[in-house]
Amino acid sequence: MTDLASQTIEKPQPSAARETVIRVRDLVVAFGQTLVMRGLDLDVYRGEVLGFVGGSGQGKSVLMRTILGLVEKRSGLIELFGQDRDRLSSAERRRVERRWGVLFQNGALFSSLTVRQNIQMPMREARHISARLMDELAMLKLELVGLPASAADKFPAELSGGMIKRAALARALALDPELVFLDEPTSGLDPIGAAEFDELIATLQHTLGLTVFMVTHDLDSLYSICDRIAALAEGKVIATGTMEEMLACEHPWLQAYFHGVRGARLAGARKPNDMRGRE
Ligand SMILES: Nc1ncnc2c1ncn2[C@@H]1O[C@H](COP(=O)(O)OP(=O)(O)OP(=O)(O)O)[C@@H](O)[C@H]1O
Ligand SMILES: [Mg+2]
Repeated sequence: MTDLASQTIEKPQPSAARETVIRVRDLVVAFGQTLVMRGLDLDVYRGEVLGFVGGSGQGKSVLMRTILGLVEKRSGLIELFGQDRDRLSSAERRRVERRWGVLFQNGALFSSLTVRQNIQMPMREARHISARLMDELAMLKLELVGLPASAADKFPAELSGGMIKRAALARALALDPELVFLDEPTSGLDPIGAAEFDELIATLQHTLGLTVFMVTHDLDSLYSICDRIAALAEGKVIATGTMEEMLACEHPWLQAYFHGVRGARLAGARKPNDMRGRE
């Protein structure tokens, strides 16, 4: 990489103002001989929506899965809520895992379970609560994500793509997490559905005080709901900052990404937080 590779364009912030929920340092992840993360650093602060971008196959999903403990790292530090993952006992790790919810890129829901059963999966795994209470909680989560009660007893195959995403989000919210991981939550949705989903995430972030780590290829989501953006290339975070800061960054990949035809059209057509005019 060039000197630009490790450029961080984020402005220094008073440390007291920002609690770091995820702290990654010098992370190395490899599959056999293939290095995917090559000394990656990343911070995610409490209460923010961090948009994580990068070319296809660069390792966005792998990073998310490594933070979640589903992919083993070769070296480096991963701190969650101020605790080093490697130093936690298995009981402590389970406690930490209950503080987050996840919406995976693929296989958002179990196809053989109804929406209600899908939402209740994390509850069953984590808590001893009565069937009646689980039913009530599942209905609350459905309402929270804007799905009708009638969706509860449907199977994923009976739902539209947008409804599946919402149901998967309801499942991610099952244990009232502080932190939510979303891997391309709006991919495959039509522009209106995607904008509505963004709006839902923004609302949940405000009302529940969620911290959101969101992998996305969706420039509209980056413009409309992300507080900060981190960009991944060649196994490292090459830049972090607000959308304005990313637009000003000279790294060639960022220039191509944000100032390409789609990016330029969006930047010219609208301001941040404007949901209209989605492509
Ligand atoms: N379990 C695995 N075993 C071996 N290689 C893997 C595994 N998971 C991912 N990879 C490889 O790691 C690299 C990064 O994959 P990843 O899925 O993280 O990309 P991505 O940035 O999420 O891409 P996309 O935007 O297409 O979702 C790819 O080269 C992929 O083939
Ligand atoms: Mg991916």
